[in-house]
Amino acid sequence: MEKIAIIGAGLIGCAWASVFARAGHTVALYDIDADAVAGARDSIKAGLVKQHAIGLITEHPDIVIARVSVTRSLEEAMRDADFVQENVRETVAAKLEIYARLDKLAGADTLIASSTSGIPASAFTENLTGRHRCFVGHPINPPSVVPLVELVPAPWTTPAVIERARAIYARAGQVPIVVNREIQGFIVNRLQGALLAEAFRLVEDGYVNSNDIDKAVKDGLGLRWSFMGPMETIDLNAPGGIRDYCGRYGPLYYDIAQQATPRQWSDALIGQLEQERLAQLPADQRPARAAWRDQRLMDLVAHKRNASDE
Ligand SMILES: NC(=O)c1ccc[n+]([C@@H]2O[C@H](COP(=O)([O-])OP(=O)(O)OC[C@H]3O[C@@H](n4cnc5c(N)ncnc54)[C@H](O)[C@@H]3O)[C@@H](O)[C@H]2O)c1
Repeated sequence: MEKIAIIGAGLIGCAWASVFARAGHTVALYDIDADAVAGARDSIKAGLVKQHAIGLITEHPDIVIARVSVTRSLEEAMRDADFVQENVRETVAAKLEIYARLDKLAGADTLIASSTSGIPASAFTENLTGRHRCFVGHPINPPSVVPLVELVPAPWTTPAVIERARAIYARAGQVPIVVNREIQGFIVNRLQGALLAEAFRLVEDGYVNSNDIDKAVKDGLGLRWSFMGPMETIDLNAPGGIRDYCGRYGPLYYDIAQQATPRQWSDALIGQLEQERLAQLPADQRPARAAWRDQRLMDLVAHKRNASDE
């Protein structure tokens, strides 16, 4: 098993520590902040206990957490690390500063992934000696429950690095996808953005309210999406497969796409959405609802693990 250095012990860093430790790796977790370092192991352990309770992990949480060490010394975290997952705050300046240090401390074959939500690796790795081994490994929060990770190379990242990273994530139980070259928002947020843009347009123009938009997804489209994507969906939705589907419905979708001019999200629309959401869920009930969501998500992932994809 490899040694994994996790840089930044916030929300995402702690979740990554859990992913790699439960896969059997030794994990060294680093943060500059004393409070983050002090609280990290308890927060990771609490997550592992929940995962254990619903069968997402079979090893006892005490055994898994024993593989995780925390430190405020970057040198110590990076010593003999085979793989680095960086999770510091989301600014170019912070990434530039930490990458200059990581590049000096990393061994020649060490891979360095950034969890960045939206900064391309080219914005903070261009001048590094080891820039060929740097790339984005973007998780969906929290990676300890949601397995998808988007691998996005910078123009100078070598294909062998992406292949090695893909294997490491897959062995740890994640589901890597490879974005062939840098694009703003990567894949997942572009797909989400397309859906939100259309949903906002439909509400703003008075065709539907936001509560019914949610039903259209959770009780309609989204039911299939948790076990098959839109490509497989349309392949199965016409007798002759995807070509047949495109022949039947392509003109309809082309018309719809032509109507979809970009719009700013106006204050009036945001106010309406806020009122509609508050009617569904008072603000003081959001934390309880978020805990309910996390539990449902873990139950769904456990169900997917047990169900056959064949
Ligand atoms: N929160 C999400 O939903 C989410 C999802 C996907 C990706 N990400 C990305 O993950 C990264 C971390 O986000 P987060 O939500 O965990 O943030 P966070 O604020 O919870 O944690 C960031 C941690 O980094 C530490 N830090 C800041 N500068 C540092 C430095 N120079 N050296 C060491 N530690 C440093 C902070 O002390 C903090 O503990 C960001 O790049 C973010 O875009 C976040």
